Amino acid sequence: MRIGVPKETKAGEKRVAISPDVVKSLIKAGFQCHIESDAGLNASFTNDAYTAAGANIVSGAKEIYGNSDIVLKVNAPNAEEASQLKEGICLVSFLYAYTIPEVIDILNQKKITAFAMDAVPRISRAQKMDALSSQANLAGYKSVILGANEMGKIFPMLMTAAGTITPSKVLIFGAGVAGLQAIATAKRLGAVVEVTDVRPETKEQVESLGGKFLTVQSGAEVKIEGGYAKEVSKEFLDAQQALIKKHIKDADLVITTALVVGRKAPVLVTEEMVKTMKPGAVIVDMAVESGGNCEISEKGQTVSKYGVKIVGETNLPSLLPFNASELYAKNIATFLIHIANKDGFIWEAEEEIAKGSLITKDGKSVHPSIVK
Ligand code: NAI
Repeated sequence: MRIGVPKETKAGEKRVAISPDVVKSLIKAGFQCHIESDAGLNASFTNDAYTAAGANIVSGAKEIYGNSDIVLKVNAPNAEEASQLKEGICLVSFLYAYTIPEVIDILNQKKITAFAMDAVPRISRAQKMDALSSQANLAGYKSVILGANEMGKIFPMLMTAAGTITPSKVLIFGAGVAGLQAIATAKRLGAVVEVTDVRPETKEQVESLGGKFLTVQSGAEVKIEGGYAKEVSKEFLDAQQALIKKHIKDADLVITTALVVGRKAPVLVTEEMVKTMKPGAVIVDMAVESGGNCEISEKGQTVSKYGVKIVGETNLPSLLPFNASELYAKNIATFLIHIANKDGFIWEAEEEIAKGSLITKDGKSVHPSIVK
């Protein structure tokens, strides 16, 4: 089986789908690896490192798209790239299929078997393939670093001859994968950290990292399914807003990571709340791509409003391209070995991981997120 890895072309993307280390293990498993020249350069993986690991360096993406059995990518191909794919081959990448209907049409015209890394079920058997989590973890770390960089204050308490500096206060919304890493990072830097989440079981996790959990006093129910918030009532959100209003006034950095599966991001920080924040405070809205947890954040921009800086970076993992590629490569290679070996494909139609992430097959869209 011939694996092809093109250079990512999406604006600002610095990651690459496989690392030299992963090439080594795939070659050992009998696959051939073809990497577009300089595909890994932005992630600090040189052509020489790939060659030493046993890959062939290919100049130009056309040869990768037109001459592989399986193409591995980070981002979905654009329409032009999709049209270059050889008919009937396999593609594995983040797809967010419902956002790219025109590309999905091309994949179907070309009878591409496409698997989406964002659709891999979050079950324990698939943990090593869970690219959403590996990338969110790094993004949580980077959100704190970016926020710290925008602040005019340091995080830790500092006692100096000239006086004592009090520690910064960080308020974090959502204690999932990204939120927990943001808490750990902010604590390591010496901040006082407060956290709110709708899932009561996160209290213990937050406290074990040294954060203070803000408990929402509300009789209203939050529907939890498979460990994820599925539905949060208006009554609960209103009680949460009242609580947040009190704490946001003192925060130096606010990081929002709140996500309700399959929904637009809940608005937790309103324009009115931003007006009450301290001058020089910073908000990093990690959910900006799915509508934003802050009412006035802007996708892909850092803006100043009412004396508060609001960061709307949409691709935080790409700001840590080395680690993000390293982990993504392990996720995608584990997935690959799950569906194929050196002689061909081995996945079964009803197997949960393959079925859950299969988007197109034999000219048809098959995933429930896009089947009409
Ligand atoms: P997750 O599902 O692990 O965590 C989300 C958390 O939000 C859950 O703990 C959930 O209970 C909580 N939540 C839901 N409603 C809430 C509310 N009203 N108040 C407080 N908490 C609430 O998700 P993960 O993987 O941590 O990702 C978090 C967000 O970050 C997502 O929106 C994701 O798309 C985004 N993300 C953004 C990146 C970027 O580059 N900007 C990179 C990676 C993830």
